[in-house]
Parts: sequence; structure tokens; C-alpha cells
Amino acid sequence: MPRLAVLGYPVGHSRSPAMHRAALAELGLGEEWSYEAIEVAPDVFEARVRAMPGEGFAGANVTVPHKGAALSLADELSETAREIGAANTLVFADGEVRAENTDAEGFLRSLPGSPAGKQALVLGAGGAARAIVWALLREGAEVEVWNRTELRSQHLCEELGGETVAAPEQAAYGLIVNTTAVGLEGEDPFAELPLRADAFAASQTVVDMVYGGEPTALLRAAAAADATTVDGIEILVQQGALSLETWTGRPAPLDTMRAAARG
Ligand code: ATR
Repeated sequence: MPRLAVLGYPVGHSRSPAMHRAALAELGLGEEWSYEAIEVAPDVFEARVRAMPGEGFAGANVTVPHKGAALSLADELSETAREIGAANTLVFADGEVRAENTDAEGFLRSLPGSPAGKQALVLGAGGAARAIVWALLREGAEVEVWNRTELRSQHLCEELGGETVAAPEQAAYGLIVNTTAVGLEGEDPFAELPLRADAFAASQTVVDMVYGGEPTALLRAAAAADATTVDGIEILVQQGALSLETWTGRPAPLDTMRAAARG
């Protein structure tokens, strides 16, 4: 009976359990495998993870605020996780903890096409931004990073690459990615971010990692200009699918996961 879980703090809002349980059922593994949400405070995170292999866990997803800690405690790191500086997926095998990052690849798979050669604007400089910037640079995009606190975007670019930008020219980008928390609690993205609601174009792809029940104000404005939009649920589905494939060795049923994640 392999167990799986998502570890977060808080974790009650996570759509991962519904998404992964639906996928396991679709794969015919629903009786055998389980997936649960476990709330873990930062001070006990390492102890909790270390106990998991002995409790029958085969792996776990890791979400805010544990993605850095997951990397630090791992016995073995994937190259991607090490370079990004964060892990969202743990694999327990032979008593060892292996840390991986499927956020970067999941993000790339959520895009309608390759970002190679595109001008990309990434808004934000937190953990989510790191995976996105790393992925875009690896694919050969030209990346500019804007952040409210410019010092953080400067640090990010020094470590990973890309250029900081203080006043981005919205029309210049083929791809715009919001990794900030703006919109999560109903904030107006056009007040908090250096974007205008009426300055999107049909040639652009606009990604908003914020997700809720409905399209965000940012994606509604982009869609009104006929831009291609990608929401946070699609990225959640793609990163989750890659994690599930790592644990089970089976191709993940994307449509089932999408339907479950969208509720
Ligand atoms: P995560 O790991 O999810 O990226 P984080 O490290 O807390 O989380 O980063 C949150 C991001 O949202 C940061 O880029 C933050 O900007 P600051 O570095 O200036 O704090 C951004 N953010 C949060 N609220 C914001 C707001 N009201 N306006 C602009 N940016 C905001």
C-alpha cells in the first residue's frame, strides 16, 4: 500500500489530493495507492519527512513554504532541483530521500509552444519565479524579471541569469508570466503590477500562476485582447503529472487530473 502526500503549511486549500486520487483511480491504482494532505509546520518539517519512508510513503509533493527545506534535507538532488534551488517532489527509496523539481518542466508543458527565442517577462522573484526563469532560460528565451522589491530580482538574475527590468514595455514581450501572489486575495493586478489591462495583444501568451475558481482579472484582460492564456491550474496539473509518473512509472491521465483539479 504505497502512500503519497502533499506537505504544506497551510495545505487545506490544496487541489493536489483530489487531482492525484482521481489519477490513481483512473490508472486502476486507487485501491493500492493513497494520497493525503499533511499540514506540517516548518520547525518539524525535516523530522516529518524523515519519518515518512518508515510509514509506507513512496513519495510526496512539497508546497509553500517547504520547497527550500525539501532541497536542504535530501540525500540526493536532481540537477534541476539543485540549479533552481527548490524541490517540489520527494521520492523515498531504499531509506533515502531524493528531491526533484517538476515545476519547471510542468510550466514548459503548459505553454502552447516552445518559448525559444521569445522575449519573456517574469513578474516576481520568489520561489515560483526561480523555476520559471530557469526553465525559460534553458529553453533559450530572452528573460527579463520585474519585482516589486528590485533587490530580490537582482539577486535572482545574478544567480540564474536574465536581466532585471524596472519599467517593462508590455507590448515588447511574446510571453508574460505572473508568479507573484497578486490577485490571490482579489488585489487589482493593474494597480500592483507594471501592466495595463488594455495593452495586451493577440500575439502574446499570458500566464498567471494564481488560481482560484474563475479566471483572474489578469487573464480576463489578456483573453479580451485574444492573447493565449494559461492559468495556474494547468501548471499544477502538469507538474503533478510529472511527479505521479516519477512515483508510479505510469503515464499520468492528464484530462482526469485537469477535471479533478478544476473541481
Ligand atoms: P513564491 O514562493 O510563491 O514565489 P514568495 O517568495 O513569497 O512566494 O514571493 C511572492 C512574490 O509575490 C514576490 O515576488 C513578491 O514581491 P516582493 O519580493 O516585493 O515581496 C510578490 N508580491 C506579493 N504581493 C505583491 C504585491 N501586492 N505587489 C507586487 N508584488 C507582490
